[in-house]
Amino acid sequence: MADNQKKLVVLTGAGISAESGISTFRDSGGLWEKHRVEDVASPSGFARDPRLVWRFYKARYLQSLEVEPNPGHYALVQIEEQLGGRFTLVTQNVDGLHYRAGSQRVFEMHGRLRTAFCTACNTKKDMSELDLELDIPICPNCRAAMRPDIVWFGEIPYYMYEIESALKDCSVLMVIGTSGAVYPAAGFVMTAKYMGARTICVNLDRPDNMIFVDEFHKGKAGEILPNLVEPLLNSLA
Ligand code: APR
Repeated sequence: MADNQKKLVVLTGAGISAESGISTFRDSGGLWEKHRVEDVASPSGFARDPRLVWRFYKARYLQSLEVEPNPGHYALVQIEEQLGGRFTLVTQNVDGLHYRAGSQRVFEMHGRLRTAFCTACNTKKDMSELDLELDIPICPNCRAAMRPDIVWFGEIPYYMYEIESALKDCSVLMVIGTSGAVYPAAGFVMTAKYMGARTICVNLDRPDNMIFVDEFHKGKAGEILPNLVEPLLNSLA
């Protein structure tokens, strides 16, 4: 691809799935008001009480199968159809809704609810291939405990090389539905801005990293994004 072509990177967070009925983490009533992060989203929490951790992720996995993508997810599919390889979608979400909406290439940096991997031999399996009736699903290969394919606090997110390369090379970064509280994702807007990109944010509230945002659209992603598709594509022509 010619290097002078304008490229778009989009980073999404829990807010884009809120209108599909999935709880965010830090809003009032969010997941982290009901559960302690260190209990359900850390390697030490899993070592202490794997049954509790599995209960939490099985419930989230089953819920993710019941909800549907919303107009915010579909707007990003439309953008990808137009921009092809000039578009990179990065998500902190583990719900799989971008894929279900039709996005072709998604960097799920915090993992995914629909897979699990073996704590002993690393075999990766789709959740649908595991016996979820068990308190702790076991590896079909070596019978050791499986764990959710989720990047927990203290672990290194997936695809960091691909994401950082895209951030350094984009003309626009748009962040959607994320509080800007969790690193490294919260730092992407700063990286892209320092590398010369225009930064756009679509969010219900001002994110923590607002200082690096050039253009703020306050409101619901599912209502704002469909109207942003055309102006955004024009600006990238
Ligand atoms: N449209 C746009 N934004 C919304 C909407 C909506 N319909 N509903 C809520 N939001 C905004 C909230 O105002 C909030 O700023 O989405 C943001 C959600 O923030 P968080 O709950 O912190 O979620 P996120 O930023 O994705 O969390 C990052 O934290 O615990 C971890 O691993 C977890 O990936 C997650 C990471």
